[in-house]
Amino acid sequence: MRATLILFVLLWFFCVYAPASFCANVTYDHRALVIDGKRRVLVSGSIHYPRSTPEIWPDLIQKSKDGGLDVIESYVFWNLHEPVRGQYNFEGRADLVKFVKAVAAAGLYVHLRIGPYACAEWNYGGFPVWLHFIPGVQFRTDNQPFEAEMKRFTAKIVDMMKQENLYASQGGPIILSQVENEYGNIDAAYGLAAKSYIKWAASMATSLDTGVPWVMCQQADAPDPIINTCNGFYCDQFNPNSNSKPKIWTENWSGWFLSFGGAVPYRPVEDLAFAVARFYQRGGTFQNYYMYHGGTNFGRTTGGPFISTSYDYDAPIDEYGIVRQPKWGHLKDVHKAIKLCEEALIATDPTITSPGPNIEAAVYKTGSVCAAFLANIATSDAQVTFNGNSYHLPAWSVSILPDCKNVVLNTAKINSASMISSFTTESLKEEVDSGSGWSWISEPVGISKADSFSKFGLLEQINTTADKSDYLWYSLSIDLEDDAGSQTVLHIESLGHALHAFINGKLAGGGTGNSDKAKVKVDIPITLVAGKNTIDLLSLTVGLQNYGAFFDTWGAGITGPVILKGLNNGSTVDLSSQQWTYQVGLKGEDLGPSSGSSGQWNSQSSLPTNQPLTWYKTNFVAPSGSNPVAIDFTGMGKGEAWVNGQSIGRYWPTYVSPNGGCTDMCNYRGAYSSSKCLKNCGKPSQTLYHVPRSWLQPDSNTLVLFEESGGDPTKISFATKQIGSVCSHVSESHPPPVDLWNSDTKSGSKVGPVLSLECPYPNQVFSSIEFASFGTPYGTCGNFKHGRCRSNKALSIVQKACIGSSSCRIGLSINSYGDPCKGVTKSLAVEASCA
Ligand code: GAL
Repeated sequence: MRATLILFVLLWFFCVYAPASFCANVTYDHRALVIDGKRRVLVSGSIHYPRSTPEIWPDLIQKSKDGGLDVIESYVFWNLHEPVRGQYNFEGRADLVKFVKAVAAAGLYVHLRIGPYACAEWNYGGFPVWLHFIPGVQFRTDNQPFEAEMKRFTAKIVDMMKQENLYASQGGPIILSQVENEYGNIDAAYGLAAKSYIKWAASMATSLDTGVPWVMCQQADAPDPIINTCNGFYCDQFNPNSNSKPKIWTENWSGWFLSFGGAVPYRPVEDLAFAVARFYQRGGTFQNYYMYHGGTNFGRTTGGPFISTSYDYDAPIDEYGIVRQPKWGHLKDVHKAIKLCEEALIATDPTITSPGPNIEAAVYKTGSVCAAFLANIATSDAQVTFNGNSYHLPAWSVSILPDCKNVVLNTAKINSASMISSFTTESLKEEVDSGSGWSWISEPVGISKADSFSKFGLLEQINTTADKSDYLWYSLSIDLEDDAGSQTVLHIESLGHALHAFINGKLAGGGTGNSDKAKVKVDIPITLVAGKNTIDLLSLTVGLQNYGAFFDTWGAGITGPVILKGLNNGSTVDLSSQQWTYQVGLKGEDLGPSSGSSGQWNSQSSLPTNQPLTWYKTNFVAPSGSNPVAIDFTGMGKGEAWVNGQSIGRYWPTYVSPNGGCTDMCNYRGAYSSSKCLKNCGKPSQTLYHVPRSWLQPDSNTLVLFEESGGDPTKISFATKQIGSVCSHVSESHPPPVDLWNSDTKSGSKVGPVLSLECPYPNQVFSSIEFASFGTPYGTCGNFKHGRCRSNKALSIVQKACIGSSSCRIGLSINSYGDPCKGVTKSLAVEASCA
């Protein structure tokens, strides 16, 4: 008791006198999270710390802050932090404390989703595979061995945060925590035990005394005081399960994830902005972009199966840490517009009316403050009368009126500039003096390691490898007396995810599942010889399942049957229950050539290409400059790559997406879904693989690859990403820039629409204007065309305003341009370069 009192006094002392700390009391009520007695309207974004490097965390966080975020959200990845039971890793990309402190240093809050089940397209949903081997364990249900481990890890993280004073209650940035993740989506499969599990999880979390609220997402029955929250492309229709809880959106999917074998998903910013505005329009006060920066699935961290190494997600900050424009900029404007309404939003519930079909008006009014949102939910434009004034509402858009009268922003009208970023390819520069370039080691086909073992029957893969490697060999030799030269078919059935079959040491064929169906069933024509024949099957996983009821039990690998069909005598031989010899992983994985240090590299004779199961190594000079770097693996098949000993992930440039279903100009009007807007059809899902700059040395670097199916490493090249031109296209019907709001409304004189441009990097100025047209220009950035109507003054006006400056603003008044076509709504389109 006395100790508690002393602690309390100490804490109070710390909170009052520590100048840098912002000891905050975080609670909630029906309207919002309440921080130090004040309801807050908050904008949050997900950045998963292991999907980038500590070196760029501060930059990503600063770009988030500049984009108008108040909160950074991340999951905590259990299998990253506890790879072996009881052995913890909080170093490098796993340095959670450092990440949270970096967010605090930028003055932002943190939402820590401890889970510890994450989903997140992360290997096994974030669960360590050792958890699966605890006797009697059943994941995510009322099961004592599972709950004991879940509690231990959750408490470990909470304690760690407390020890570093990272909860808001201690002066730290963490204002919110999550326990479990979307269990409500799948809990029916667990029957009654699901109910008691959720109750247990809620009280376990609450008992950890973080001093800040907990949430459960997609959990309609989340027990008090846990706040149930919404995940989805839209959450405006969601309501929490109690009138004393605020409306929180934990995952607003800013795009979607990419799978090997799939096309690249994207989500138009007009639709994303619409969804955000709709949420705040209908009473929401906290929303989080999933993802704000998606990043990269390094090493073997991807889940799936078949999740690609890139986790770009079409997020406002791209995989490489560059702001994606106009997505980032337009959302920044949306955030400013919403913040202009904060006082009204936190004061009251909205009054919602429908001034027309598919039109919805929400008014937040108390005393002298009034803010309104006007939404057009239809796919065609509308004219609406609201409070006696007439408003044009573009299809599928929301207008925000911070004073219930003037429109500060419409979600479909983009004032923000766009930007062309592109990759420049450079050939892989070999280090001087390094000799012939590439050296190699052949990985033996079949069993080569001392720890192989034999068993009757076919084994499930995850139970056998414990995910120590993607690879498991299944080997058998059979004696055929009279079947010389016999043509037969080898039938193999596997739970997934892919397999290669070798007959007498030679690759005979294989099969690959996909993200919808991991299972593989193949019939491979083979030729057997008289006497002894070897059948070596290499089964591989491509990221363990991360979602679904009982996902931990779905399994992988060649569980059979494996059958030889139609031998010479017409018979069929089922090999499934024979004695197979097993090898977990590759010989090369044990030798550690991933670091390039093995002494067995060959470099004398000619380099083998298009050979399956080959390790390759080279030394290279890093591309100069500071632009982000990627390796282009075009020419290779499938495998994993290491730069200076760090795994940059699985590469698979030969897995091509289906031909149909793509469009580069997706119509944002109407409800979005993950397959609505796709690009890159019929092309490899991923050819470029991010190499963080901080993993590179200026001159001497080592690249090691393991190639599974065969490729030519001399075709590998580097690509650096840079920003080209910046563009903007603003019409006479656009509202003025959000930051002119005060001057605009107070002076009473309308500023009118303004086109704003800014160079992407500090110390740059505009060096040339590639395109400028006032009238009816059309097209997209990099591809603008003059329309039938144009003023001949546009180019000189824009040049005068911009050249030599790092940013410029140009009005759209016909007083300057003259009116090239009376009665027509005109626009100004500009493309400019900086140097
Ligand atoms: C959600 C899940 C996230 C992530 C997302 C898709 O259902 O909570 O962890 O997997 O889907 O990217």
